[in-house]
Amino acid sequence: MTEYDQLEPIEKASVDELRALQLDRLKQALKYAYERVPHYRRKFDQHGARPEDLKRLEDLAKFPFTTKLDLRENYPFGMFAVPMDQIVRIHASSGTTGKPTVVGYTKRDIETWSHVMARSIRAAGGRSTDKIHVAYGYGLFTGGLGAHYGGETLGAAVIPVGGGMTERQVQLITDFKPEIIMVTPSYMLAIADEFERQGLDPAASSLRIGIFGAEPWTDSMRAQIEKRMGLEAIDIYGLSEVMGPGVAQECVETKDGLTVWEDHFYPEIVDPATGALVPDGEPGELVFTSLTKEALPIIRYRTRDLTRLMPGTARTMRRMGRITGRSDDMLIIRGVNVFPTQIEELLVKEEKLAPHYLIEVKREGPLDDMTVYVEMRQELAGRMRDAERSSLEKHVQHMVKSYVGVSTHVTVLEPGKIERSQGKAKRVVDLRPKS
Ligand code: DLL
Repeated sequence: MTEYDQLEPIEKASVDELRALQLDRLKQALKYAYERVPHYRRKFDQHGARPEDLKRLEDLAKFPFTTKLDLRENYPFGMFAVPMDQIVRIHASSGTTGKPTVVGYTKRDIETWSHVMARSIRAAGGRSTDKIHVAYGYGLFTGGLGAHYGGETLGAAVIPVGGGMTERQVQLITDFKPEIIMVTPSYMLAIADEFERQGLDPAASSLRIGIFGAEPWTDSMRAQIEKRMGLEAIDIYGLSEVMGPGVAQECVETKDGLTVWEDHFYPEIVDPATGALVPDGEPGELVFTSLTKEALPIIRYRTRDLTRLMPGTARTMRRMGRITGRSDDMLIIRGVNVFPTQIEELLVKEEKLAPHYLIEVKREGPLDDMTVYVEMRQELAGRMRDAERSSLEKHVQHMVKSYVGVSTHVTVLEPGKIERSQGKAKRVVDLRPKS
């Protein structure tokens, strides 16, 4: 047993106690950012907001947002609040365009992160007696090392496999018999396929819990992974700008959304178009303020992730719903808003289809043209007749039209035709000219 095998007092505190702690920490965080980071001082001044103006938690709305652009403009280390001799780790996330977003950590930040990650693994059902197979990528990506330090802090035995070499993933799971796997949901599917390719039943493996995140996934995908792998599939959320994985974590006893570790990360939901605050329960864009970070304090960071906040259940802290998509992942197809997760939800329900898909968008003349490529199940390889395939394609087309409201082509492919991810899956190829 370690201290992490039980709930911490703050996880069981009353809402009033939690809010008091947050207010206290938020005051300090704003003052700290203002005094130490020229960028925040300038932005606060321009906005006419002084740290002392925060009297209540709601006053946070008076302060300016921080975006990825702010971090880019201060590339690489311009937003750090401490000198380099206090930085002990640097991570970066590759952006879709140009330079990566760089984040730094002090020794205490690494302790905080390890602490919330240990808490997350415990909330997912992990214990110090477990072995954890980490298949998130190690390196500049925060997934591997975040999971690694969290697992060690919990007192578990961490197996630092990293992403890739899928055959070896199967061998190590079979031989080392880990109880927990931490990996992106899309790579879990690739590992499941590899089990089957080797003639092994993935549901018979030692794995009891999967802690899946770093990319959007749906409840239908959860049901499918749970059945196929014979484990509890639990959601974990985070982003490097705010810390890394472990900002929010689903609890195994309720599996009803991700508990935000609100004693360290203060959440708000705003209207993505206007930036106006949206009440709890309503959907919008998630915004985070760090309450305890030293190296890179982050004030009202616009995550671009769309979700809503809900009251706590398994813990006092509020929950966030599953991320339905990122505001910048939303496809607008002939005027209709489409999120890849909406398509996934439909595909995963089809018996004959495998959960491997790719959405391609082109522009033919003036019109957007969308095609969903999806694989058939392994058992059907080489056995699906043309007529059967085309009626399946028509059926999916019809489902997408009725539920998502957009016309699409559907192409059902033989197994293995869609490139497998070893980390975050690429779901969309947008070939339309950039306007
Ligand atoms: O993906 C950190 C992480 C690693 C989280 C491992 C969970 C597990 P970034 O590379 O900075 O950090 O990407 C952050 O990934 O803004 C979301 O859009 C997306 N994301 C992360 N977790 C989830 C999730 C890591 N559970 C971006 N569901 C975030 C949906 C997620 N999207």
